[in-house]
Amino acid sequence: MRLGIIGGTGVYDPDILDDAREVTVSTPYGEVRLLAGRYRGEEVAFMNRHGAGHSLPPHRVNYRANIWALKELGVERVIATAAVGALRREHAPGSLILCDQFLDFTKSRPATFYEGGEAGVVHVDVTEPYCPELRALMEESGRAAGLPVKNGGVYVCTEGPRFETAAEIRVFAQLGGDVVGMTGVPEVVLARELGLCYSTVAMVANLAAGLSPTPLTHSEVVAVMNQNVAHLRRLIMDTLPKIPAARERCGCAVRPEVHGRAAAGEERP
Ligand code: HPA
Repeated sequence: MRLGIIGGTGVYDPDILDDAREVTVSTPYGEVRLLAGRYRGEEVAFMNRHGAGHSLPPHRVNYRANIWALKELGVERVIATAAVGALRREHAPGSLILCDQFLDFTKSRPATFYEGGEAGVVHVDVTEPYCPELRALMEESGRAAGLPVKNGGVYVCTEGPRFETAAEIRVFAQLGGDVVGMTGVPEVVLARELGLCYSTVAMVANLAAGLSPTPLTHSEVVAVMNQNVAHLRRLIMDTLPKIPAARERCGCAVRPEVHGRAAAGEERP
């Protein structure tokens, strides 16, 4: 299985897989339940980031287990969806942003597979955190389908689960952010640690705090995602068949150096 989809808020059922079956993968971080099925003859894995019934808040998502499980299944390419708030009015609700950079404002999440000791230490390179090949393919699919897609955008990740203050949003915009969400990091970093191609298609659900004329609510986010989820599905469905088997046009597969004890050849993820 080469392809994996991580569904964020509002994307709970891919509804595109043939012979979909529930699979449970055991990882050192716990069990992960996901769907495995076929799309146009290709095996695809789909997981809900927030677990069954959106039961996990962003800071409690088991990011390491999720990414490990995909790796364990043989997945090499991951397309993740994310509901986001817009830091700029030009990113209207419904816009699809293919993120190319992130700013990390998370505070309390396990952010690496390499916790030292037996596992060793890794300082992974994230100069280009999102796979450029997957982004280009998604842009092509989005344009061909007439979707409001933009290739490139800075994803600001906050700790949540609260929404931001208006002052925070002003600062994030000044720092160059385009959209804000609560789940993109460390998912993207963990994928890179394991050498997976990873891309995020962020869907703007609302204008962020201070730009929005009304207080933010999760139900507003979910309602806008529901209205536009067909666009996300279309983008992903049209992109999957275009993904080449060989990964030759990006550097995502390069595994990072491990320092410390694991460097001596001990087990690593
Ligand atoms: N802030 C953070 N996360 C979000 C938002 C937001 O405005 N909208 C959807 N996810």
